[in-house]
Amino acid sequence: MATSKQLQFLSNDAIALDVRDGLTATPKRLPAKLFYDEIGSQIFEQITQLPEYYLTRTERSILESFAGEILQQAGPSLTLVELGAGTATKTCILIEELLQRQNRTLFYPIDVSPSALDEAVRQLGQQFPALRVNPIVADYTGGVPALGRIGGRKLVLYIGSSIGNFEPDEAVRILRRIRRTLRSGDALLLGADFAKSSKILVPAYDDAQGVTASFNKNILARLNRELDADFNLDAFRHIALWNRRVSRMEIYLESLTDQTAFLPPLDLDLTFQAGERIHTENSYKYTDAMIESILHESGFTLEQSWCDRKKWFGVHLARV
Ligand code: AVJ
Repeated sequence: MATSKQLQFLSNDAIALDVRDGLTATPKRLPAKLFYDEIGSQIFEQITQLPEYYLTRTERSILESFAGEILQQAGPSLTLVELGAGTATKTCILIEELLQRQNRTLFYPIDVSPSALDEAVRQLGQQFPALRVNPIVADYTGGVPALGRIGGRKLVLYIGSSIGNFEPDEAVRILRRIRRTLRSGDALLLGADFAKSSKILVPAYDDAQGVTASFNKNILARLNRELDADFNLDAFRHIALWNRRVSRMEIYLESLTDQTAFLPPLDLDLTFQAGERIHTENSYKYTDAMIESILHESGFTLEQSWCDRKKWFGVHLARV
């Protein structure tokens, strides 16, 4: 799965600064990257298996159906790169297909989590003896200069709908930084969730078993664990809303009562009114026009898109 376990590697200081910025702002917010500590990453794994969370399984089925076509379109003699590779489980589908076409393949998984990359190297080495895996520990959002030194034609995978967590203008900046390290002829494979009925979207982010609610609340649980805060998790509820105007799911934690919380490292007292929300995540849902536009603005040309029968999820191949 293309997730990152970023913040478990951030210092308490870095977390505390983000938290102070976000929770003293109006309206209150917290950065979505805070979700992915060890526990949060495990809960996200559970989310990907929920009946309501169609994203992961739909993208996997697209890759399974069209791996051959995707690689054909990407071109001959490819070196694979993956942004936010995590343990690279969905990538296996493409690697397997690629190894049938070329007997030696280089794979550069990029992630902020060294432990996730270790796992990827171990698993892939076992499964594909002919694959050479060169992990890069980096936060890809700032660009990855090392990519500029890789020879041959590259196919950069940015799958898993991770792009959805960024504002569209931020997504463009990230893709541009990546594009600058690529050469003409290199390709990008972007996985993004399509805008669709709120009847499908809302349950995907507010499931019947409450797994997404616990994923969301883990952000406060984490502040209790790591910053010694005293948030009462039972006094907040999980909210998932479809904002059609800007085409995104919005995730909040809403205070059920007037309450306070204390953050010792910041010597910060926080007050919450009943009904007050903390905005914890946006998950943008793309239309064809939005996909075209962010790719174009970041210096790519969209060549071909693949989707499932219901057009719930899309995988898009773009060229530098
Ligand atoms: C990991 C960003 C793709 O936006 O669907 C899942 C995160 N948040 N349920 C998404 C998430 C709540 C997920 N991404």
